[in-house]
Amino acid sequence: MIVLTQIEDVRAHLRAERLAAAKEGKELQVGFVPTMGYLHDGHASLLRSARMDNDLVVLSIFVNPIQFGPNEDLDRYPRDRDKDMALAKREGVDIVFLPTVEEMYPEPTKTKVLVSELTDHLCGATRPGHFDGVTTVVSKLLHIVVPNRAYFGQKDAQQLAVITQMVKDLNMDLEIIPCPIVREEDGLALSSRNVYLSPEERQAALVLSRSLRQAEQLARQSEGATAEDIFQELVRTIETERAAQIDYAEIRRFPSLAPVSGSLPVKEIEGKILIAIAVKFGATRLIDNVILTMEGDK
Ligand code: PAJ
Repeated sequence: MIVLTQIEDVRAHLRAERLAAAKEGKELQVGFVPTMGYLHDGHASLLRSARMDNDLVVLSIFVNPIQFGPNEDLDRYPRDRDKDMALAKREGVDIVFLPTVEEMYPEPTKTKVLVSELTDHLCGATRPGHFDGVTTVVSKLLHIVVPNRAYFGQKDAQQLAVITQMVKDLNMDLEIIPCPIVREEDGLALSSRNVYLSPEERQAALVLSRSLRQAEQLARQSEGATAEDIFQELVRTIETERAAQIDYAEIRRFPSLAPVSGSLPVKEIEGKILIAIAVKFGATRLIDNVILTMEGDK
């Protein structure tokens, strides 16, 4: 495994690897997993998929300042370089790209990549500018690595939808591979931000997966349950936890993120629906979701 901090070194290394493969008559398949570090099993599952599908796996670790709002956790975002390197090695990563802020943004960027509509609601509503920062940095990283496939977790379902749209709209020549949410045994979705939780908040945060499980059950089992019924049930369950402060709870189509009619029985919906929540426990904001495939009432 090699660790590179300079954009030019990543390009030169990949150029050499591609050339070597081409000399043997093969096209090198490159898989890419962009992250902000403090790696856990969720990140590891993305790396494992990338390892299975490709000849060469590139991992980037970069806490991207332009996707954090002024009152967010940029300064205290958790970092552990040694642990990250050990996990990357264990998962068979070939290249770790570890740029500094100066390397990625030698001057304030005058160019941004903005995806409209999909970024207006859910996390986009409470984190203005967040997705512009994400799409801008992911575009930069994709231009540096030029992978055949890039791996994104469904944990950040809106991010996955936004990136997929960007790649389609800008005719970027790669495949976006969605990966399922990895959870702790008790249901809490793994997140680098879980480390902020006190033991009491950690316990309270179980309401996220519990409420989604109940919503899913209602959607699957109850014949006439409408999106409004599911929404009410979701909010009621979250509110049983006194430490939980709801940022949003929404049901939308996936990946269009178009709203669903509140009065329609969800079983009549065709395609995928996203049940997404963002909840604060003290100062820590956590997100979770479930995506259900509905088959329509045919
Ligand atoms: P980060 O939060 O580090 O997440 C990196 C990738 O890991 C994302 O695709 C995310 O969805 C995935 N991931 C995180 N927790 C997961 C879990 N429990 N199960 C499955 N996948 C999980 O998302 C970002 O970084 C940044 O916005 C980034 C895309 C790197 C741009 O800066």
